[in-house]
Amino acid sequence: MTGKKLRLPPLAESLSARLLLLTIAFVMLAEVLIYAPSIGRFRLVYLEERLAAAHLAILALEATPDQMIGEDLKRELLDHVGAYSVGLTRPGAGKLMLMVTTPGPVDASYDLREASFFGLIGDAFMTLMDDGGRILRVVGVSPKDRKTLVEVVLEEAPLRRQMLGYSERILALSLVISLFTAALVYLSLHLLMVRPMRRITESMARFRDDPEDASRIIKPSARSDEVGVAQRELAEMQEGLRGALRQRARLAALGAGITKISHDLRNILATARLVSDRLVESEDPEVRRTAPTLLSAIDRAVNLCAQTLNFTSEGAPAVDLSRFDLGELVREVGASLPEQLNGQARWHSLIEENFEVSADREQLHRVLSNLGQNAVQAGATKVEIAARRDDDCFVIDVTDNGPGLSPRARAHLFKPFAGSSHPGGTGLGLAIARELMRAHGGDVQLERSTSEGTSFRLILPVDRGQR
Ligand SMILES: Nc1ncnc2c1ncn2[C@@H]1O[C@H](COP(=O)(O)OP(=O)(O)OP(=O)(O)O)[C@@H](O)[C@H]1O
Ligand SMILES: [Mg+2]
Repeated sequence: MTGKKLRLPPLAESLSARLLLLTIAFVMLAEVLIYAPSIGRFRLVYLEERLAAAHLAILALEATPDQMIGEDLKRELLDHVGAYSVGLTRPGAGKLMLMVTTPGPVDASYDLREASFFGLIGDAFMTLMDDGGRILRVVGVSPKDRKTLVEVVLEEAPLRRQMLGYSERILALSLVISLFTAALVYLSLHLLMVRPMRRITESMARFRDDPEDASRIIKPSARSDEVGVAQRELAEMQEGLRGALRQRARLAALGAGITKISHDLRNILATARLVSDRLVESEDPEVRRTAPTLLSAIDRAVNLCAQTLNFTSEGAPAVDLSRFDLGELVREVGASLPEQLNGQARWHSLIEENFEVSADREQLHRVLSNLGQNAVQAGATKVEIAARRDDDCFVIDVTDNGPGLSPRARAHLFKPFAGSSHPGGTGLGLAIARELMRAHGGDVQLERSTSEGTSFRLILPVDRGQR
């Protein structure tokens, strides 16, 4: 196990920092969306106030008998409105004007009766972006009397100043709100997500360093949300992994023990075999009669020891590739099989002449011989071996006319020591065959098994040189 240190991201790249920045950005965006219509509205209210003041100023003019007032009062009234000139039109009455000096040329005219939502926003931004030196003519109904139309000519600069002041206040407020919101979001996310996530990550790292230590398994909280589920799932996974490791360690110890026992037992049996060989020549006819049974029992026991030794001590077999004629190998396997099958008709090769494959010859011999022996032991009277090339692999089919796999064998197929159903069988033949084929990068599969026979398929990858 590596004691690698848990590497957490630096603060700037942490989830919390990203969430903080995102929250600030989103709140600012929301503020901009609110700001645009409100600055438009601010300008409208300012202008309407000017119209109301203008209406009031004109009323002073109406109060005089000849509608004439002194220059000073006029100037004072216009200063109060903040305009160069003021005009008023009422239905059925003429137009009244209040003006001291003629203003310069009007730069822009606005009719507040036609103001639209987006128009107001656009005009407000125009005012903000301008240098504030424009002279505006604004027409609108008087807020005091809906029938009266008021017109004022005024400078844009004071309006722009007030709008800038308003914008600055909104900006400052937005910053305060976004920082405040971001801080709250940050804090809650940090407590609800980031911290538990770190706990999970730390637990993973601690567990990775020593998965067999039960104290390193995360203790899930009682939370019912996704984090709680993740914690519980992690705890379960760690528990399962720890169990599997314990099991593996136990099996390894067991394997080592069995290897030792098999080794010594094989030697003991070799001695027994040597001694028992003499029994065949015994004077006693009864001893002579039972000797072959005893010998075959000892042989089976030796065979069991040898197979067990092979399986437990080999590990992943090393593959020594060579190119050879498959038909020839199949014939050799046939010759080495027990008598029942040792004949052309029964061990039947359908492989064409000079069919070359690339594999570990010795291992493929073992695989074919294991399959052949199984067929004989199952009671088959004929086994056929066919081979063909299929794209980038060779397919070798071993088909017998036996009674098919028993349910027990089928349930434990390819599992070592589990699926044997004949006396003296170890249940290793198919497991070994699969291990050897997989070491080649191929496999062995059960192709079909019925009461008419069984067929196993060997898959052997084509060597690069043969492609
Ligand atoms: N061709 C077959 N026809 C019928 N049953 C088969 C065939 N091949 C395998 N079996 C069944 O599968 C079981 C497992 O076979 P496997 O070769 O793994 O072990 P085994 O033959 O019992 O023992 P071992 O080969 O280690 O001596 C066999 O006991 C047998 O019941
Ligand atoms: Mg077998």
